[in-house]
Amino acid sequence: MFAVLGNWKSFGSNRCVDDFYQALTIHQHKSTQWGIAFPYPYCQAASTKRQGWVGAQNVSAFGEGAYTGEIHAAMLTDCGCQFALVGHSERRQYFNEPSSQLVDKINALHEAGLTAVYCIGETLEQRDAGQLMQVLQDQLRVLDGLSNPEQLWVAYEPVWAIGTGRAATPQDAQDAHTIIRNALKGSPFHHVPILYGGSVKPENAAALARETEVGGFLIGGASLKADSFSEIYLQFTQTKSS
Ligand code: PGA
Repeated sequence: MFAVLGNWKSFGSNRCVDDFYQALTIHQHKSTQWGIAFPYPYCQAASTKRQGWVGAQNVSAFGEGAYTGEIHAAMLTDCGCQFALVGHSERRQYFNEPSSQLVDKINALHEAGLTAVYCIGETLEQRDAGQLMQVLQDQLRVLDGLSNPEQLWVAYEPVWAIGTGRAATPQDAQDAHTIIRNALKGSPFHHVPILYGGSVKPENAAALARETEVGGFLIGGASLKADSFSEIYLQFTQTKSS
């Protein structure tokens, strides 16, 4: 299974959600699931459109309880979500999410029957210092001891490519995905799809999709508009089936 997912971050409105679904031109391809990770308040409304998957961008590491401001995994299921992002670099960077919480978040999603999209990636400093492999392997250690490979996708998102307009080259993506695939060997996750994220656009989608280890995309800015998201989905599915 491949996946093309959007991440609306802290953008959008009820109106944007309606407009988005109205303007979408996606014909679901059986090999490639699509979905959008919305801000929490829009998940329920998006799920009533019954098109693609609806996801959240985060989830509480805790279950039900006195945790003011938290949204737990069963609430996401209740609001029609099928997946949630975990460990997006913006959450690691601005909200100091520790690895111990990321494990709990993935476990919570799995218990609620949801797919976790586990995001990893290096900063430019780490890449320039030759630490790419080490960083990815360290971040993947979060998966040690977890199971449920059918409910986990990995997203490789180099921090320097996110929101910068400077996507990884197809070769950079293939190399990093190969490191990830090798690191997952021998674990229950050795076959999971590895999505690429970071400045994916209609113009670079086909070239990235041509790489064998690119099993989908996680798209930020270009997922806010139905036409660019639909076009990326089309480019991806056409490339993979050609
Ligand atoms: P971008 O964001 O496509 O705007 O670079 C990707 C992401 O953060 O998931």
